[in-house]
Amino acid sequence: MSYPDMMRAAIKKVEETRKKRLDETFSMLSPEEKKELLENFHPDYRDDAFREVKVGANKGQSLPHEVVDILEARSRIDPDSFSLDVDREVDVLVIGGGGGGSSAALIADALGAEVLQVTKLRMGDANTMMAQGGIQIADKENDSPAIHFLDVMGGGGFANKPDLVKALVMDAPEVGKWLEDLGYMFDKEEDGRMVTRHGGGTSRKRMHSARDYSGAEIMRTLRDEVQNREVPTIEFLPAVELLLTEEGSCQGAVLYDLETEEYMVIRAKTVILATGGFGRIHVSGFPTTNHYGATADGLVMAYRAGANLLFMDSTQFHPTGAAFPEQIVGLLITEKVRGLGAQLVNNEGEQFVYPLETRDAEASAIIRECEDRGRGIETPTGMKGVWLDSPMIDQIHGKGTLKKELPAMFRQFDRFDIDITEDPILIYPTLHYQNGGVEIDASCETRVKNLFVAGETSGGVHGKNRLMGNSLLDVLVFGRRAGRAAAERVREVKFGKLSLDHVKDYNRGLEEGGVETDRVSPMLLPDYSAEGSF
Ligand code: FUM
Repeated sequence: MSYPDMMRAAIKKVEETRKKRLDETFSMLSPEEKKELLENFHPDYRDDAFREVKVGANKGQSLPHEVVDILEARSRIDPDSFSLDVDREVDVLVIGGGGGGSSAALIADALGAEVLQVTKLRMGDANTMMAQGGIQIADKENDSPAIHFLDVMGGGGFANKPDLVKALVMDAPEVGKWLEDLGYMFDKEEDGRMVTRHGGGTSRKRMHSARDYSGAEIMRTLRDEVQNREVPTIEFLPAVELLLTEEGSCQGAVLYDLETEEYMVIRAKTVILATGGFGRIHVSGFPTTNHYGATADGLVMAYRAGANLLFMDSTQFHPTGAAFPEQIVGLLITEKVRGLGAQLVNNEGEQFVYPLETRDAEASAIIRECEDRGRGIETPTGMKGVWLDSPMIDQIHGKGTLKKELPAMFRQFDRFDIDITEDPILIYPTLHYQNGGVEIDASCETRVKNLFVAGETSGGVHGKNRLMGNSLLDVLVFGRRAGRAAAERVREVKFGKLSLDHVKDYNRGLEEGGVETDRVSPMLLPDYSAEGSF
């Protein structure tokens, strides 16, 4: 399936203007222009997309309907009748099989704690695996963690929690070394120096990569190490509720075996939640780049246990999700394509935005072009998008560059008879990242004692907009920090009496808030059946 004739005329315009555009520099938005663009076109500013949550620590705040839906839902278990007989006891229970969970499990294990890592699907079934473009590490002569800090704060609209940003950027060089020591294959120059590129909103080239499967390479490295160290792991075992002691500290979880459909009670001195983000709840009806299991389970469980959430009114829409062909709508077209020089072009063949604005602004400019200015390109199913002029890459850097730098992307389109070295890619914003999440301190501890959260489940470090490459960094930095803090805490903890009173209290909160619902959460898996919510 190559491009149909109805899209060919628009491609011709891209070809006609390419030569001229190669020499064109497009100016960046001023702060005032950016503000206006966001307020008018970013989905975070659509009033009808939000409503007040009536229960829990964030009661009274306006959050996206889809987030409120999963927070204002019933537990999967009945707290009045559920048996809390313990099936297994460990020091540290790590919930999540992606980059954050695996980093945490490795560090806690190395510190001598008895660790159990559980995951909803298989080890590595996570957004980490799907990350393409790279990881930001300030390790070149012209760069520093201080400059990285300023970029992260600027990208996040200066709403970020500075102590978390400091942890992120200061740990980055050590994390890069750790990864390489574990066997990560970074892209290198012929002389052995790291290849680094720009991402949107970066003032230095600090994106380190493994071609366009940087996340898969991280997951390969970590999963191998978890296996080599024989850290105990159990797959297809999602958590459905946290367990607290009567004093209110976290001490385990109720898990649900997807194969036997039986519950299991794990008592643990400390718990690390690293269950990823919320792409699969499809905020504002957007398609998503996210993994099938990204249903915000950790967010729901931590909230019910009393943790508070930050920036849940802020969702990241990646500017470049695939808009054609239909089979891959919403999948990620890495920012690295623009980092390598590809421009965004409308149906007139014109560039309409600087290609490396921060993602919130870049996505808003694309939405404006399609929905307000009528300059989108329509697909046979009526979807609109704009062109990402990928053939520019070989023209800028030399023939063969695209296939070398973006081999997975090339193959993804080749399967549909689209050669992206010859033809541009049709894109439209797609739900990519949960900017907010559970509030943590720099050791990843939440308001709930002995409950640690790492990675996309947490909120604060990225403020209201994450920059490319800071998510892979986040899962490693905070996964490791959570692993260390949780393992060290173990020495101080004595087992207490387990309780689900927080779930009973939450149910009372729902009733007091007048919430009538038969919805249950965590969702565990999205429902795409005809009767389902999507
Ligand atoms: O565009 C990308 O490759 C995505 C990277 C990220 O979200 O960090």
